[in-house]
Amino acid sequence: MRRLILLAAGAALIAGVTGMALSGKAQTAASQNAELRPVSTFAGIADPRQRAVALFEESGKVLQHPRCVNCHPVGDRPRQGDMMQLHQPLVVRGADGHGAPGMKCSTCHGAANFDLPGSGAGVPGDPHWHLAPASMAWEGKSLGQICQQIKDPARNGGKDMAALVKHMAEDSLVGWAWNPGKGRAPAPGTQESFAQLIQAWAANGAHCPAL
Ligand code: HEC
Ligand code: HEC
Repeated sequence: MRRLILLAAGAALIAGVTGMALSGKAQTAASQNAELRPVSTFAGIADPRQRAVALFEESGKVLQHPRCVNCHPVGDRPRQGDMMQLHQPLVVRGADGHGAPGMKCSTCHGAANFDLPGSGAGVPGDPHWHLAPASMAWEGKSLGQICQQIKDPARNGGKDMAALVKHMAEDSLVGWAWNPGKGRAPAPGTQESFAQLIQAWAANGAHCPAL
């Protein structure tokens, strides 16, 4: 019951928020960026370092997309929508990224997306829905900084390169970005084509763009 009431409150909220998110610039930018170049189109770059950097820059269309960055914020609050506004209502990451006691992410975010009937909006969902730790914040960072950071086991949750590639290819929160439910633009390309870019970047030495 509590959950239904919250969802209804959320619905009223969303109607306002998505109206803004879907208007104008953000939507145009999202649709212009709808494709990812396939790995084969980078074969002409002879120098592996330059090839790796170009591959990473292409994956940056996904890494710096609001669908990813909203969950990798600098502060304690998630962000929302294509304009990356602060999450409404006020929620915080809590000790483990699952929210504060009494205001857990799972109070509102279910195991799957919930599309609000009769509206163009919905509440995102995944069984593991929670906020990335502060060490994995990408918001406002350059692609070079994000690149250094995701390679660093001290900041990426102890992942080696193989685990990092696997996370991008298989993690369900990563995958959600291409299946974000009603009212949200998906990340460009597909999770598979994104994972192929990351895989090729790793295979070419995982070099980073300049900071
Ligand atoms: C009181 C209900 C509620 C709680 C608790 C809650 N959320 Fe949300 N969240 C929502 C609603 C409703 C939306 C959809 C708003 C919209 O359409 O922009 C949303 C959207 C989001 C989005 C936006 C996704 C995108 O790219 O647009 C993120 C990220 C998010 N929540 C993360 C979290 C995290 C992490 C937690 C726990 C720390 C959390 N939320 C707790 C209700 C809640
Ligand atoms: C619902 C929130 C959420 C969304 C959406 C999300 N992430 Fe994350 N991400 C997390 C959490 C939580 C962790 C840490 C837990 C873990 O390592 O499994 C994480 C960790 C990561 C890591 C580990 C390394 C690091 O330093 O960040 C990578 C890489 C990553 N996410 C990529 C992505 C990409 C790419 C997208 C978008 C396509 C994305 N994430 C969308 C929550 C999210």
